[in-house]
Amino acid sequence: MREKIEKILNEVRDFNASTKEELDNFRITYLSKKGLVPALFADFKTVAPELRKEIGMQLNELKNIIQQKVEEQLQKFEGQQGDNSAIDMSMPATAMHGGRHPLSIVRRDINAIFEQLGFTIAEGTEVEDDFHVFSALNFPPDHPARDMQDTFFVTKNPDVLLRTHTSSIQVRVMEQGKLPIRIIAPGRVFRNEAISARAHCIFHQIEGLYIDENVSFADLKQVLYHFVQEYFGPDTKIRFRPSYFPFTEPSAEMDISCNICGGKGCNICKHTGWVEILGCGICDPNILISSGIDPEKYTGYAFGMGVERIAMLKYQINDLRLFFENDLRFLQQFEQA
Ligand code: PHE
Repeated sequence: MREKIEKILNEVRDFNASTKEELDNFRITYLSKKGLVPALFADFKTVAPELRKEIGMQLNELKNIIQQKVEEQLQKFEGQQGDNSAIDMSMPATAMHGGRHPLSIVRRDINAIFEQLGFTIAEGTEVEDDFHVFSALNFPPDHPARDMQDTFFVTKNPDVLLRTHTSSIQVRVMEQGKLPIRIIAPGRVFRNEAISARAHCIFHQIEGLYIDENVSFADLKQVLYHFVQEYFGPDTKIRFRPSYFPFTEPSAEMDISCNICGGKGCNICKHTGWVEILGCGICDPNILISSGIDPEKYTGYAFGMGVERIAMLKYQINDLRLFFENDLRFLQQFEQA
């Protein structure tokens, strides 16, 4: 009796069914009415009384082991053909990532800061024409930004292209002719640049535009300062450097004190302690005139910031390509929904 029990134990110990059928056969062989285990129980009568306690325990254990195996392995095959009872068709699908892309988090948080100040969100299209991306923004016909090397053209005549900046949305909003204007416009932009850790041919910007009576450079500075304090924290400093954009006059680029080294100097800020995050300026009167806005009455400011650059600083990401590869190991480090 003891040998029989041991023999069966050896047979079942490593059993691993690869099909449901195999598992069924296993169950029938050992546990069905005419199976090997009930047969052993039937033989139990013949066991000498002094051995009954020990053999009885072994027998029960054998039965439990086999039952457990069957139950465990049944789960593998649940939901397979012939057993639909385990499928709940109304269950929502499991999310692949279940979180938010870091660029979406940054966009949402930046939007929220400006919305609190009364800015509303505007949108434009990624496929644009020369007028809205360049001409209406005062780009001279021979400006290098229009060059084939920077701009992705869809067709040349009529000119259809991928916007190279979100400033095209400024034009779209001004065209609607409703004043005052106080918008921010997030969007994806395209430039024909070699892909590296610091540049990509696709990236994101957030544009801001405020046009009203008596808007000055001081207002622009104040709003950007507020934004930086809210987003990067109260220790963050800003500085403006004179710059040039065809559609703003005066124009500036704004740097923030490097939040990675705290302004002491590191690789990210190229040891200057400062990192550029946006371009800005006072709307050139020509832009207002071409949209039918009276520059004697109205003035405005505009700014455009790079979302990837801001995300890299905020989350200390050192390679821009990570945003576009959708590697789950990268994405899962961000907010889970
Ligand atoms: N559109 C400019 C760029 O992409 C940034 C900018 C926006 C500058 C608004 C001034 C005002 O570089």
